[in-house]
Amino acid sequence: MIVPWRDRRGKFLPLKAAVFVAVFVPACFYAYAWIVGAAQPRPITEAIWGTGLWAIRFFLISLAITPVARMLQWPGLLLVRRMVGLTGLAYLVAHLFFYTMDQKFVLTTVVTEILSRFYLTIGFVALLGFAALGVTSTNAMIKRMGRWWKRLHYATYGLIAMGVFHYFIQVKANVSEPVFVAGLYVWMMLWRALPMGWQRGVAVYPALAVVAAPATAGIEFAWYAVATNINPWRVLAVNESLNFGLRPAHCVFIAGVVVVGLVVGRRLAARFSGPMLARSA
Ligand code: HEM
Repeated sequence: MIVPWRDRRGKFLPLKAAVFVAVFVPACFYAYAWIVGAAQPRPITEAIWGTGLWAIRFFLISLAITPVARMLQWPGLLLVRRMVGLTGLAYLVAHLFFYTMDQKFVLTTVVTEILSRFYLTIGFVALLGFAALGVTSTNAMIKRMGRWWKRLHYATYGLIAMGVFHYFIQVKANVSEPVFVAGLYVWMMLWRALPMGWQRGVAVYPALAVVAAPATAGIEFAWYAVATNINPWRVLAVNESLNFGLRPAHCVFIAGVVVVGLVVGRRLAARFSGPMLARSA
């Protein structure tokens, strides 16, 4: 039997146990808000938003686990990747459940809406894709599918992009949050496109921060140009100063700088702890 806080040999792993507890926190928060009436007057809508938001967050975290594990030379982190991805799927199933509840469980309405609204069709196709990846994530399936498993799971990148697109379309006016999410996604995909030797180095990380930030501003520009009547040049110009507060591109740059700090810190710690270990031996 699979126990989430143990490894394949049955050994207790504190990191897995901590992550297993942590993934329930958003669900408990929304359930509590519903029970005490804090989600009024539209608790179901709050639940749809909350589950959608946390689904995309967990998928992004699962996408971040491989870069973080390699940057911080922390292979143990990879042990929680599957759990985080499956949590994203669980929140997604809840998202569909609350949507169906919002339609008073009239399945014909649910199907008609999904077929007639583009952002729901995209979401539904993504959900089916994530479900297929979830079903093929058992140890037995990984073994049975061999190298095909890895190929199939490359679909995660496209499915997350579809989820982000769905997020963009349903946010009617201010797309700052989806733009920020899209910027982080771009950072992680750029990292994946790098040769492995570069990923292990330090020099590439400042470059990633410098490239991902304008790419984020570019996505924001493109969105306003294609999907709205708002002048995209004015939106782009807002990025030139901090007078209007932090824009998504600034936040992505800050996230990139934090990564640089972590990578440098990890390398320094490794350099200094080596001689110390040798001295204490
Ligand atoms: C059957 C599939 C899906 C349905 C029926 C669905 C439905 C919805 C609905 C009705 C909303 C709220 C729209 C509004 O406020 O007017 C929403 C928002 C959202 N959905 Fe979905 N969705 C689906 C799939 C997905 C997928 C695959 C993802 C991401 C992986 C996702 C992430 C989100 C996010 C992030 C929001 C916005 C939450 C917020 O504004 O705080 N959804 N979805």
